[in-house]
Order: sequence, then C-alpha cells, then structure tokens
Amino acid sequence: MSQMPARGNWIFIATFAGLFALAVVVGLLIGKKRSISGIATSAQADSRGPFLYQGMCASCHGSEGRGDGVSAQNLKSAPRDFSLRPWKNPIDLTSIKKVIVEGIPGTVMPGIKNALPESDLDSLAKHVLKLASQGISPTEKVLSEAEKLAMEAGFVLLQGNPAPLLQLEDEQGGKLKLSDYKDKLVMLHFWGVQCPHCLKELQALFELEKSFQGKSFVILHVCTDEDDVKVAQQLASKYAPGIKVVVETSGIGLARYEVQTLPAFWLVGKEGRTIARSTGARDWGSKHCRIFIESLITN
Ligand code: HEC
Repeated sequence: MSQMPARGNWIFIATFAGLFALAVVVGLLIGKKRSISGIATSAQADSRGPFLYQGMCASCHGSEGRGDGVSAQNLKSAPRDFSLRPWKNPIDLTSIKKVIVEGIPGTVMPGIKNALPESDLDSLAKHVLKLASQGISPTEKVLSEAEKLAMEAGFVLLQGNPAPLLQLEDEQGGKLKLSDYKDKLVMLHFWGVQCPHCLKELQALFELEKSFQGKSFVILHVCTDEDDVKVAQQLASKYAPGIKVVVETSGIGLARYEVQTLPAFWLVGKEGRTIARSTGARDWGSKHCRIFIESLITN
C-alpha cells in the first residue's frame, strides 16, 4: 500500500512530463513549420530573379554580371559588365525593365518582349540592379577621361589604325573617298533601308550634323543594303529631308569595317585614323553624344 501513492505520483509525473514533452514537440513543430514556410516564401521571391537571370542572361552577362558569360567572346559588342559605369541607360528598375523587354536595337542585346509576367520581370530587374550595385571591386578598371566620354556616348575607343578604304558614290554620281575629308572628323554611319530603327534615327543624326555646320565634322550616311543610291536617297529624304546619303561601290568596304549589325558607326580622325566605333541606335540628341564629338573636334 505504501507504494501506491508513489506509483500514482510517478504516473502523474510521467503523464505531466509526457504532455509537456508533447506540447514542446508540437510547439516546435508548429514553430518550425511556420519558420520553414516563412523562409520558403521569402526565399522563393529572392531566388526567382537569380533563377531567371542564370537561365536567360548569364550566358552573355556572366553569372555575376561582369560581362564574361560563355558566349561573350563570340559577340561583336561586349555584354555590359553591370558593375562598370556609366551605362547607356539610367540604372533604375523602370529603365532596366524597359531594356529587358525591348532589348537594345542594333546590338545583340535581345528584347524578351512579353515572355515574362510582370512579377518575374520585377524580380529579374531587381537582381540586375543588385548585380549592378555590388562588387565594384578595387580591381575595377579605372576609365580615362576620354574613355568615359566615349562610353557615355556608347562608343569604344580604338587604337588609331589607318581607316580602311571605302569607295562611295552620291546621288549625283559623285565619287567620294575618306581621304577627301582629311582635315575633318568623319563619322561613318552605316545604315540600311531595311532597318527600321536606322530610319527612325536619321532625322536626329541629320540635326546633329547640321548643328556642327562650319566646324570640321561631317557624317557620311553609307547605305548598306541598297545598291541604287537614288532609291536609298529617296527613302532617306522621307525621314530626314535634306540629308545626303551615299552607297559603297567597291563591295568590300563594309566587310573591312566589319559591319554586321545596323546601325554601325565609326569615327575617323583628321589624319584618317580610326578613333572609335559603336553599334546600335541611341538618342543622338543627348548631351553625351554632343560632348563626345566636341571633345574629338577640339582635340
Ligand atoms: C546574346 C547576349 C545577351 C543576352 C542573352 C543578354 N544580353 Fe544584355 N546586353 C548584351 C549586350 C551586347 C549589351 C550591350 C549592348 C550595347 O549597348 O552595345 C547588353 C546590355 C544590357 C543592358 C544595358 C545596360 C546599359 O548600358 O544600359 C542591360 C540592363 C542588360 N543587357 C540586361 C540583360 C538581361 C536582364 C538579360 C536577360 C534577360 C540580358 N541582358 C541578356 C548582350 C546580351
């Protein structure tokens, strides 16, 4: 009999301990479950951007956005290293989303159009913004003043080799050569009648040309996809009344200038040496383009 209360106590204690343990386990489970699902949802949002980026962009821009993806070396224009400044476009979510959707015409940067829902587009743009704002490493290339001006206008500076030959012809049948412009800064503008974004920017380029009238700067608008200069001139005049275009008649000039995408631009300096090159449409009315050209005329 004397053992009964003790056994009762044990049962009581065991039951209590058991219930407590159960509560702890249940509590832990619930808590754990909560935190797991909490982590899961935020991780899902955080990983969507990187996931899409690795699948759609990293092959060119590199997994860390340094412009060193596996396909990068085969491309004519280098994919942006997101950590370098400046960019062509403003570095904010709205602008990045616009570039992702529309691409950059005349470059290999593809536009995805409406391939992604808005929420995915947001996640992707956020990830690009993150890559753009991190890892500006101490080894980052410090750009010279000239390189910076060129980059802001979307150009890359060249070594200054003699410019390849071109045989040009205007609407009147006049023959033109680069050497006719020895004392001028020449912008070779390769465009095409079949290139809608080339046609769209003809007017702005013509305005730029006119605004430098009297200075030693000239733009040669070389049509690349129409042999008949009259046809090319007629179309160009529709988009930019007063503009004068030319065609290349040797047949190999375009290859010498490695024109693969349109529009393409080369700047040739006063001594007939190449200064810079670029591809792709841009805002020719921007101050960056003007400042860059001015810097080359005065130097
Ligand atoms: C086929 C290669 C390629 C792929 C794929 C690609 N890009 Fe690009 N991207 C480029 C190139 C080349 C440029 C630079 C174009 C130029 O300005 O000359 C560029 C430029 C950009 C810029 C412009 C930065 C600026 O200067 O304004 C952004 C932003 C960008 N890419 C984001 C993306 C994102 C996001 C993806 C994936 C959805 C992507 N790119 C896929 C090649 C690529």
